[in-house]
Amino acid sequence: MVIGEAPGQEEDRQGKPFVGRAGQLLDRMLAAIGISRTETDPAKAAYITNILPWRPVGNRTPTPEEAALFLPFVLRHIALAKPRIVLTMGNTPTKAMLDSTTGIRRMRGRWTDHAATGLPLLPTFHPAYLLRQPAEKKFAWQDLIQVRKALDGME
Ligand code: URA
Repeated sequence: MVIGEAPGQEEDRQGKPFVGRAGQLLDRMLAAIGISRTETDPAKAAYITNILPWRPVGNRTPTPEEAALFLPFVLRHIALAKPRIVLTMGNTPTKAMLDSTTGIRRMRGRWTDHAATGLPLLPTFHPAYLLRQPAEKKFAWQDLIQVRKALDGME
């Protein structure tokens, strides 16, 4: 299960998460490790959502308080979707899920046993950030390889 920040303009229009430019990059990143949101086989399927169900006015970054407000809904969403791994993308979902103020640069690539869900959780960079900073894609790639290995180990 992939958890992003909040819908953007295109996501609001379509009512679906990650369908704009960042979503297209996310689809390519997941495809590189054999995962797709249209797959039904659990070894290959991604379920994609956001911490916030709508974008804060003015497209600003959600506050930690806003993210904390929606956390119970996300935890319930995870319990219903029953993923094997949680991948948080960027600062907002990572800090909210881990109840931490540590930035994504220090958190990415490190697995946590996430107590509230009982699932392995891996933070990585947000694809919108990678669109702005393509040189950082190598780190996201390292993280995705870890996801693939973890899923393979669960077969
Ligand atoms: N960015 C996000 O964090 N979520 C989306 O759904 C789209 C862009």
